[in-house]
Amino acid sequence: MELMKQKIVSEGRVLPGNVLKVGNFLNQQLDIAFLTEVGQEIARLYRDAGVTKVITIEASGIAIAALAAQALGVPAVIVKKHSSANQSKEVYTAEISSFTHGNTYTAAVAKEYIQPTDRFLIVDDFLAVGNAIVGLRKILAQGGAELAGCAIAIEKAFQGGGDALRAEGIRVESLAMIDSMADGHIVFRS
Ligand code: G4P
Repeated sequence: MELMKQKIVSEGRVLPGNVLKVGNFLNQQLDIAFLTEVGQEIARLYRDAGVTKVITIEASGIAIAALAAQALGVPAVIVKKHSSANQSKEVYTAEISSFTHGNTYTAAVAKEYIQPTDRFLIVDDFLAVGNAIVGLRKILAQGGAELAGCAIAIEKAFQGGGDALRAEGIRVESLAMIDSMADGHIVFRS
């Protein structure tokens, strides 16, 4: 998506540790007009994929997940990171390690929202090493639901998560793919 690349170039900032700061439009302040277009682009890509629900993990993916769900005309399911219901028999859970933040958490979602008749689209703001998506797939598998694919705003392709999923045959659509951020210079995959 050309507009996503332009937005990253004009408003993003590369921080030490290969972290791209996009708080101005995606992570802290939300550019709703722009994110509405992002949601519509995701819907265009997955319009014929039989998606019945969108799913994301809180927090930063929620905005685009909601706007993509609206454009697709389906509900959005939010997986919790800090659920006190972890021990409950009524939730599906997965342990997820954050490579970027260096922590591990238990993602949890109520079983009632993941049904065998569902075909999910995973939506997230960033795809780096792919741990979040691995965890979401475990949760979907517990509920016997299908995965239509993944839609990502910004893929840090040099961290390998997206290509590993593609190698498994999973459809991954990223609106901007970054091959390198060395010395603060962003190189996109064309
Ligand atoms: P993964 O998302 O592919 O599993 O990779 P990783 O473990 O590295 O990502 C952990 C968290 O860091 C995720 O957010 C992800 O969105 C975020 N992240 C990764 N790289 C970047 C980056 O370059 N810039 C920004 N702004 N975020 C990045 P999270 O822990 O789920 O937190 P939240 O922000 O969604 O609450």
